[in-house]
Amino acid sequence: MANKIVVGTQWGDEGKGKVTNMLARKADLVVRYSGGNNAGHTVVIDDNKFELHLIPSGILYPDKPNILGNGVVIDPQALVEEMEGLEERGINLDNLYISEIAHVVMPYHRLLDRLEEERKGAGKIGTTGKGIGPVYTDKIARRGIRMIELLDEEQFTRKLEESLDYHNTVLEKVYGVQPLDIEEIKAEYRSSIEKIRPHIINTAILIEEACRENKEIFFEGAQGTLLDIDFGTYPYVTSSNPTAGGVCTGAGIGPTEIDEVIGVTKAYQTRVGEGPFPTEQKNKIGEYLREKGHEYGVTTGRPRRCGWLDIPLLKHAVRVNGLTEIALTKLDVLTGLAELLVCTSYQKDGENIAEYPACAQDIKPVYQEFSGWEEDISSIREYSNLPVNARHYLESIEEMVGVPIRIIGVGPGREEAINKD
Ligand code: GDP
Ligand code: IMO
Ligand code: MG
Repeated sequence: MANKIVVGTQWGDEGKGKVTNMLARKADLVVRYSGGNNAGHTVVIDDNKFELHLIPSGILYPDKPNILGNGVVIDPQALVEEMEGLEERGINLDNLYISEIAHVVMPYHRLLDRLEEERKGAGKIGTTGKGIGPVYTDKIARRGIRMIELLDEEQFTRKLEESLDYHNTVLEKVYGVQPLDIEEIKAEYRSSIEKIRPHIINTAILIEEACRENKEIFFEGAQGTLLDIDFGTYPYVTSSNPTAGGVCTGAGIGPTEIDEVIGVTKAYQTRVGEGPFPTEQKNKIGEYLREKGHEYGVTTGRPRRCGWLDIPLLKHAVRVNGLTEIALTKLDVLTGLAELLVCTSYQKDGENIAEYPACAQDIKPVYQEFSGWEEDISSIREYSNLPVNARHYLESIEEMVGVPIRIIGVGPGREEAINKD
């Protein structure tokens, strides 16, 4: 059995939820390994639309264990809300497992996220406001609180006292706001703990057992390569490693156990929040893509910035993730555009730049033109039935990035895809 990773190749929202849910049909275990409820993954099954933030998209299959690995940061209230929402819709959560060493998002993380963005003003990151940066900061600074500590009232109190001692000083002295009250926080968290408690285990053991029994594990990435703390458009990134390497440290599995890395790629590009976006179209094309592709954030509702596909950026994603194949989503959104542009390199100060640069500000994209197609492709399930110009677009991308496109999304529904396998 092959263990597979699904990773976003761009700035998130590539369609990882849909692709995971589609491909996880054959998997035995589905695992999230990074990020938190900054993610918003959509799965459309017939007339039912599910928007998942923390819980893996595999939960929609009743029989598969789904894991929130240690690399995920968990806001207990948000998790409980998501669990209750799914239960109300008849989804069974007996198969949900949460790592005992995953870090917990606390109210001061959410508050600091907001205050820091306000302090930065025009230079803000444009975060989701879910406390993600501050909780990972605490993890690395070795003052975080893990799920296991949350379960023990005495330990939780001690850890929280230590953490609040630090954070209240920062809140008062740096940001000039009121300190937080420990009893209020404890009361707020007490109610969620009991709902989550039965799901908390050593998830690395579950993953190890699955490997030993030759089961297929599917790792569902959140965010995207260009939001990675190392390989993204720093500092306009998230605070974790959504790239494939994050699976090993974020789930507790060795690199030798990974067989395939599937890069989910939108047929054009989007970004939410601030930061460089060389192929962005702040014009009618951008508006067309936003409206036709319903490009509004699942987590924050913000309009997504839209632009053309960027090949050097994709080659960067192939390189740092070791992609073995691409799942290209939203090809249907390009239908009706007479001309499609694809960025093949950049120019800066009269010089050609072939590779995605560490500083992507002030570079100008160099485009290659492709002819579009008019035919509705949403009901096509066979590759050979796609319009010739659509096939030419796909085959040119494959050739330029050097990785095969195996899945092609032609609509939001789980079944609306061409699977070349
Ligand atoms: P994720 O964060 O990577 O899981 O992606 P999101 O769910 O945030 O955003 C992707 C959006 O595109 C969702 O609304 C999906 O339902 C939708 N989507 C996914 N694949 C396709 C596709 O092939 N065609 C169309 N039209 N929509 C798609
Ligand atoms: P999914 O999994 C798109 C972006 C935010 C912001 C930056 C930092 O749905 O693809 P953070 O709250 O993480 O500190 O914000 O990262 N961002 C995402 N953009 N999709 C996501 O997740 C994102 N998660 C974070 O908009 O620019
Ligand atoms: Mg999303």
